[in-house]
Amino acid sequence: MSKRRPLVAGNWKMNGSQAESTALVNGIKQGLASVNTAEVAVCPPFILIPLVATLLKGSNAVWGGQNLSVHKSGAYTGETAGPMLKDYGSTYVIVGHSERRSYYGETDKLVAEKFGAAQAAGLIPILCIGETLAEREANQTESVVARQLDAVIQMHGIAALKNSVLAYEPVWAIGTGKTATPQQAQDVHAFIRGRLAALDKGVADGMRILYGGSMKASNAKELMAQPDIDGGLIGGASLVAEEFLNICRAA
Ligand code: PGA
Repeated sequence: MSKRRPLVAGNWKMNGSQAESTALVNGIKQGLASVNTAEVAVCPPFILIPLVATLLKGSNAVWGGQNLSVHKSGAYTGETAGPMLKDYGSTYVIVGHSERRSYYGETDKLVAEKFGAAQAAGLIPILCIGETLAEREANQTESVVARQLDAVIQMHGIAALKNSVLAYEPVWAIGTGKTATPQQAQDVHAFIRGRLAALDKGVADGMRILYGGSMKASNAKELMAQPDIDGGLIGGASLVAEEFLNICRAA
Protein backbone atom coordinates (compact mmCIF):
# COMPACT_ATOMS: atom_id res chain seq x y z
CA MET A 1 0.00 0.00 0.00
CA SER A 2 1.42 3.29 -1.02
CA LYS A 3 2.09 6.01 1.53
CA ARG A 4 0.89 8.59 -0.95
CA ARG A 5 -2.68 9.75 -0.55
CA PRO A 6 -4.43 9.29 -3.89
CA LEU A 7 -5.89 12.31 -5.62
CA VAL A 8 -8.82 12.16 -8.01
CA ALA A 9 -9.25 15.42 -9.90
CA GLY A 10 -12.10 16.17 -12.28
CA ASN A 11 -11.15 18.21 -15.33
CA TRP A 12 -14.45 19.60 -16.53
CA LYS A 13 -12.82 21.21 -19.57
CA MET A 14 -15.21 23.70 -21.24
CA ASN A 15 -18.43 22.22 -19.93
CA GLY A 16 -21.23 23.25 -17.65
CA SER A 17 -23.91 25.89 -17.12
CA GLN A 18 -24.51 27.29 -13.65
CA ALA A 19 -27.47 24.95 -13.22
CA GLU A 20 -25.60 21.88 -14.44
CA SER A 21 -22.58 22.70 -12.31
CA THR A 22 -24.70 23.21 -9.22
CA ALA A 23 -26.37 19.84 -9.72
CA LEU A 24 -23.03 18.13 -10.37
CA VAL A 25 -21.33 19.62 -7.33
CA ASN A 26 -24.29 18.90 -5.09
CA GLY A 27 -24.28 15.32 -6.33
CA ILE A 28 -20.57 14.98 -5.60
CA LYS A 29 -21.02 16.55 -2.15
CA GLN A 30 -23.71 14.04 -1.25
CA GLY A 31 -21.39 11.15 -1.98
CA LEU A 32 -18.21 12.46 -0.38
CA ALA A 33 -18.83 10.71 2.92
CA SER A 34 -18.45 7.38 1.14
CA VAL A 35 -15.02 8.30 -0.27
CA ASN A 36 -12.63 6.92 2.30
CA THR A 37 -9.12 7.56 1.13
CA ALA A 38 -8.83 9.77 -1.90
CA GLU A 39 -8.55 13.52 -1.95
CA VAL A 40 -11.26 14.82 -4.28
CA ALA A 41 -10.78 17.88 -6.48
CA VAL A 42 -12.74 19.51 -9.28
CA CYS A 43 -11.37 21.88 -11.89
CA PRO A 44 -14.23 23.80 -13.52
CA PRO A 45 -13.92 26.51 -16.18
CA PHE A 46 -12.75 29.80 -14.63
CA ILE A 47 -16.16 31.43 -14.80
CA LEU A 48 -17.72 28.67 -12.70
CA ILE A 49 -15.08 28.69 -9.98
CA PRO A 50 -16.83 31.27 -7.73
CA LEU A 51 -20.01 29.18 -7.85
CA VAL A 52 -18.21 25.90 -7.22
CA ALA A 53 -16.13 27.45 -4.43
CA THR A 54 -19.28 28.66 -2.70
CA LEU A 55 -20.91 25.23 -3.00
CA LEU A 56 -17.84 23.27 -1.85
CA LYS A 57 -16.73 25.53 0.97
CA GLY A 58 -16.65 23.54 4.20
CA SER A 59 -16.76 20.16 2.41
CA ASN A 60 -13.88 17.71 2.04
CA ALA A 61 -13.49 18.44 -1.64
CA VAL A 62 -11.17 21.07 -3.06
CA TRP A 63 -11.11 22.88 -6.39
CA GLY A 64 -8.80 24.52 -8.86
CA GLY A 65 -8.28 25.90 -12.36
CA GLN A 66 -7.49 24.25 -15.67
CA ASN A 67 -4.91 26.83 -16.72
CA LEU A 68 -3.43 30.13 -15.58
CA SER A 69 -1.48 33.08 -16.88
CA VAL A 70 2.25 33.33 -16.34
CA HIS A 71 1.62 36.89 -15.14
CA LYS A 72 0.33 37.99 -11.75
CA SER A 73 -1.84 40.87 -13.04
CA GLY A 74 -1.90 43.57 -15.65
CA ALA A 75 -2.76 44.26 -19.26
CA TYR A 76 -3.22 40.70 -20.49
CA THR A 77 -6.66 40.63 -22.08
CA GLY A 78 -8.51 37.38 -21.63
CA GLU A 79 -6.07 35.88 -19.13
CA THR A 80 -6.67 34.68 -15.57
CA ALA A 81 -3.92 34.90 -12.97
CA GLY A 82 -2.85 32.45 -10.31
CA PRO A 83 -3.56 34.91 -7.49
CA MET A 84 -7.15 35.19 -8.78
CA LEU A 85 -7.57 31.43 -8.54
CA LYS A 86 -6.08 31.54 -5.08
CA ASP A 87 -8.41 34.37 -4.09
CA TYR A 88 -11.31 31.98 -4.71
CA GLY A 89 -9.79 29.34 -2.49
CA SER A 90 -8.33 27.14 -5.21
CA THR A 91 -5.89 24.45 -4.14
CA TYR A 92 -4.77 23.13 -7.53
CA VAL A 93 -4.28 24.27 -11.09
CA ILE A 94 -3.72 22.03 -14.11
CA VAL A 95 -0.75 23.07 -16.24
CA GLY A 96 0.40 21.74 -19.57
CA HIS A 97 -2.70 19.74 -20.43
CA SER A 98 -2.24 18.26 -23.90
CA GLU A 99 -5.19 20.31 -25.20
CA ARG A 100 -3.35 23.47 -24.12
CA ARG A 101 -0.16 22.20 -25.71
CA SER A 102 -1.73 21.21 -29.00
CA TYR A 103 -4.57 23.74 -29.52
CA TYR A 104 -3.00 26.79 -27.86
CA GLY A 105 0.63 26.30 -28.75
CA GLU A 106 1.89 25.89 -25.20
CA THR A 107 5.53 24.91 -25.33
CA ASP A 108 7.50 23.02 -22.70
CA LYS A 109 9.03 26.36 -21.70
CA LEU A 110 5.69 28.14 -21.32
CA VAL A 111 4.32 25.20 -19.33
CA ALA A 112 7.36 25.40 -17.05
CA GLU A 113 6.72 29.13 -16.57
CA LYS A 114 3.10 28.40 -15.69
CA PHE A 115 4.24 25.78 -13.21
CA GLY A 116 6.32 28.47 -11.51
CA ALA A 117 3.49 31.01 -11.63
CA ALA A 118 1.17 28.49 -9.97
CA GLN A 119 3.55 27.85 -7.09
CA ALA A 120 4.29 31.57 -6.74
CA ALA A 121 0.54 32.08 -6.22
CA GLY A 122 0.39 29.35 -3.58
CA LEU A 123 -1.32 26.84 -5.86
CA ILE A 124 -0.28 23.24 -6.39
CA PRO A 125 0.34 22.62 -10.09
CA ILE A 126 -0.92 19.39 -11.65
CA LEU A 127 1.63 19.06 -14.43
CA CYS A 128 0.38 17.01 -17.38
CA ILE A 129 2.78 15.09 -19.57
CA GLY A 130 2.20 12.44 -22.20
CA GLU A 131 2.93 11.26 -25.68
CA THR A 132 0.85 11.24 -28.85
CA LEU A 133 -0.01 8.03 -30.68
CA ALA A 134 2.62 8.74 -33.34
CA GLU A 135 5.24 9.23 -30.63
CA ARG A 136 4.26 5.99 -28.90
CA GLU A 137 4.40 4.10 -32.17
CA ALA A 138 7.83 5.56 -32.84
CA ASN A 139 8.98 4.32 -29.43
CA GLN A 140 9.38 7.86 -28.13
CA THR A 141 7.11 7.67 -25.09
CA GLU A 142 9.94 7.86 -22.57
CA SER A 143 11.89 10.55 -24.37
CA VAL A 144 8.77 12.72 -24.71
CA VAL A 145 7.67 12.53 -21.08
CA ALA A 146 11.29 13.01 -19.99
CA ARG A 147 11.60 16.14 -22.13
CA GLN A 148 8.33 17.57 -20.77
CA LEU A 149 9.35 16.83 -17.19
CA ASP A 150 12.92 18.03 -17.57
CA ALA A 151 11.76 21.43 -18.86
CA VAL A 152 10.18 22.07 -15.46
CA ILE A 153 13.08 20.63 -13.48
CA GLN A 154 15.59 22.70 -15.45
CA MET A 155 13.70 25.92 -14.83
CA HIS A 156 12.78 25.42 -11.18
CA GLY A 157 14.99 22.68 -9.77
CA ILE A 158 13.98 19.27 -8.52
CA ALA A 159 13.03 20.59 -5.06
CA ALA A 160 10.22 22.63 -6.63
CA LEU A 161 8.58 19.37 -7.66
CA LYS A 162 7.94 18.55 -4.02
CA ASN A 163 4.87 20.72 -3.98
CA SER A 164 3.30 19.50 -7.17
CA VAL A 165 1.37 16.64 -8.72
CA LEU A 166 2.15 14.94 -12.02
CA ALA A 167 -0.41 13.53 -14.41
CA TYR A 168 0.62 11.06 -17.08
CA GLU A 169 -1.91 11.45 -19.86
CA PRO A 170 -1.21 9.61 -23.08
CA VAL A 171 -2.75 11.91 -25.68
CA TRP A 172 -4.18 8.95 -27.62
CA ALA A 173 -6.22 7.96 -24.57
CA ILE A 174 -7.78 11.35 -23.86
CA GLY A 175 -11.46 11.51 -24.72
CA THR A 176 -11.12 8.52 -27.02
CA GLY A 177 -12.46 5.77 -24.80
CA LYS A 178 -9.12 4.05 -25.42
CA THR A 179 -7.50 3.65 -22.01
CA ALA A 180 -3.88 2.68 -21.54
CA THR A 181 -3.70 -0.80 -20.10
CA PRO A 182 -2.76 -0.85 -16.42
CA GLN A 183 0.65 -2.24 -17.43
CA GLN A 184 1.24 0.40 -20.11
CA ALA A 185 0.38 3.13 -17.62
CA GLN A 186 2.39 1.56 -14.81
CA ASP A 187 5.46 1.29 -17.05
CA VAL A 188 5.44 5.01 -17.80
CA HIS A 189 4.63 5.96 -14.19
CA ALA A 190 7.57 3.87 -13.00
CA PHE A 191 9.80 5.50 -15.60
CA ILE A 192 8.72 8.97 -14.40
CA ARG A 193 9.28 8.08 -10.74
CA GLY A 194 12.66 6.59 -11.58
CA ARG A 195 13.69 9.74 -13.35
CA LEU A 196 12.75 11.79 -10.29
CA ALA A 197 14.51 9.31 -7.99
CA ALA A 198 17.76 9.74 -9.88
CA LEU A 199 17.69 13.37 -8.77
CA ASP A 200 15.93 13.22 -5.40
CA LYS A 201 14.63 10.04 -3.78
CA GLY A 202 12.39 11.94 -1.36
CA VAL A 203 10.67 13.85 -4.14
CA ALA A 204 10.19 10.63 -6.10
CA ASP A 205 8.72 8.72 -3.16
CA GLY A 206 6.32 11.51 -2.24
CA MET A 207 5.22 12.39 -5.77
CA ARG A 208 1.63 11.68 -6.66
CA ILE A 209 1.53 10.62 -10.29
CA LEU A 210 -2.04 10.53 -11.62
CA TYR A 211 -3.16 8.66 -14.69
CA GLY A 212 -5.47 10.42 -17.12
CA GLY A 213 -7.08 9.29 -20.36
CA SER A 214 -10.52 7.69 -20.52
CA MET A 215 -10.43 6.65 -16.87
CA LYS A 216 -13.89 5.66 -15.71
CA ALA A 217 -15.46 3.77 -12.85
CA SER A 218 -15.14 0.46 -14.69
CA ASN A 219 -11.36 0.66 -15.19
CA ALA A 220 -10.31 2.90 -12.29
CA LYS A 221 -9.71 0.15 -9.75
CA GLU A 222 -7.34 -1.82 -11.92
CA LEU A 223 -5.39 1.26 -12.97
CA MET A 224 -5.10 2.62 -9.47
CA ALA A 225 -4.03 -0.75 -8.09
CA GLN A 226 -0.71 -0.28 -9.92
CA PRO A 227 2.09 0.60 -7.51
CA ASP A 228 3.03 3.89 -9.20
CA ILE A 229 -0.45 5.17 -10.05
CA ASP A 230 -1.62 7.52 -7.32
CA GLY A 231 -4.99 8.64 -8.60
CA GLY A 232 -6.59 10.02 -11.71
CA LEU A 233 -7.21 13.12 -13.75
CA ILE A 234 -10.69 12.58 -15.09
CA GLY A 235 -12.26 14.35 -18.06
CA GLY A 236 -15.53 13.03 -19.45
CA ALA A 237 -16.35 10.80 -16.49
CA SER A 238 -16.02 13.73 -14.06
CA LEU A 239 -19.18 15.32 -15.47
CA VAL A 240 -21.46 12.66 -13.98
CA ALA A 241 -21.55 12.76 -10.19
CA GLU A 242 -22.05 9.06 -9.53
CA GLU A 243 -19.46 7.99 -12.09
CA PHE A 244 -16.91 10.44 -10.68
CA LEU A 245 -17.66 9.33 -7.12
CA ASN A 246 -17.19 5.71 -8.08
CA ILE A 247 -13.73 6.56 -9.40
CA CYS A 248 -12.99 8.38 -6.13
CA ARG A 249 -14.17 5.34 -4.17
CA ALA A 250 -11.92 3.08 -6.24
CA ALA A 251 -8.82 5.10 -5.35
P1 PGA B 1 -10.83 11.97 -20.46
O1 PGA B 1 -9.89 13.28 -20.27
O2 PGA B 1 -11.00 11.37 -19.09
O3 PGA B 1 -12.11 12.52 -21.02
O4 PGA B 1 -10.13 11.07 -21.39
C1 PGA B 1 -8.81 13.24 -19.38
C2 PGA B 1 -8.13 14.58 -19.42
O5 PGA B 1 -8.04 15.17 -20.51
O6 PGA B 1 -7.66 15.09 -18.38
